[in-house]
Amino acid sequence: MIIKTATFISSNTRVDKLPTPTLPEYAFIGRSNVGKSSLINALTGNRHLAKTSQTPGKTQLINHFLINDAWYLVDLPGYGFAKASKSSRAAWEKFIRRYLLLRENLQCVFVLVDSRHEPQRIDLDFCYWLGENGVPFMLVFTKADKLSTVKSQSNIEKFRNALLQWFEEVPTHFLTSAETRLGCDQLLAAIDEINNNFEPTVAS
Ligand code: GTP
Ligand code: MG
Repeated sequence: MIIKTATFISSNTRVDKLPTPTLPEYAFIGRSNVGKSSLINALTGNRHLAKTSQTPGKTQLINHFLINDAWYLVDLPGYGFAKASKSSRAAWEKFIRRYLLLRENLQCVFVLVDSRHEPQRIDLDFCYWLGENGVPFMLVFTKADKLSTVKSQSNIEKFRNALLQWFEEVPTHFLTSAETRLGCDQLLAAIDEINNNFEPTVAS
């Protein structure tokens, strides 16, 4: 898929204020600092589209980007931000879980996982929650440029094996880098395929 246009639409803290759910939508989620915003920029070829930062906790809202006037890419705030207070963490959970469960045009959640690390409880638990709630998801391992392929493949294998303790099948995964664009075209092709089968549930 070729990205012709990528436009920022809105930032929201309320699920009832989101854009009308007539177009297919894909959300990027994962630990704070895992590289969600950077990957959105790499996919769209616009380094300034989603705000990135070395400081975790940069993305605090549900940000909608309209791609090719045909589908939404959504940048979500990261979880597991160590400095966040208990109450703000609880608020995050409530808000994101509501979004993930209620957003009717959400086609797939891309769970971003840092390929440099062995499986982390927080990522596995989040995948488990998605699976339990029937939210379709795929795995996106990030920052591949920062380590050897052997090492990243080993971490991916461990992650998949950990999920296999809960699920009979493990979702599709991608190994990506926002620096080199590794995996970006494959990820866009997966979105394209889902878009082709999309049937809106709401009249436009
Ligand atoms: P929050 O919005 O805080 O949840 O973070 P995020 O997941 O959106 O991460 P962000 O894209 O802001 O990236 C965090 C840091 O990681 C930045 O310093 C990026 O430059 C760096 N980074 C992200 N992706 C990559 C990558 O593929 N390779 C390398 N080398 N660095 C990356
Ligand atoms: Mg971000």
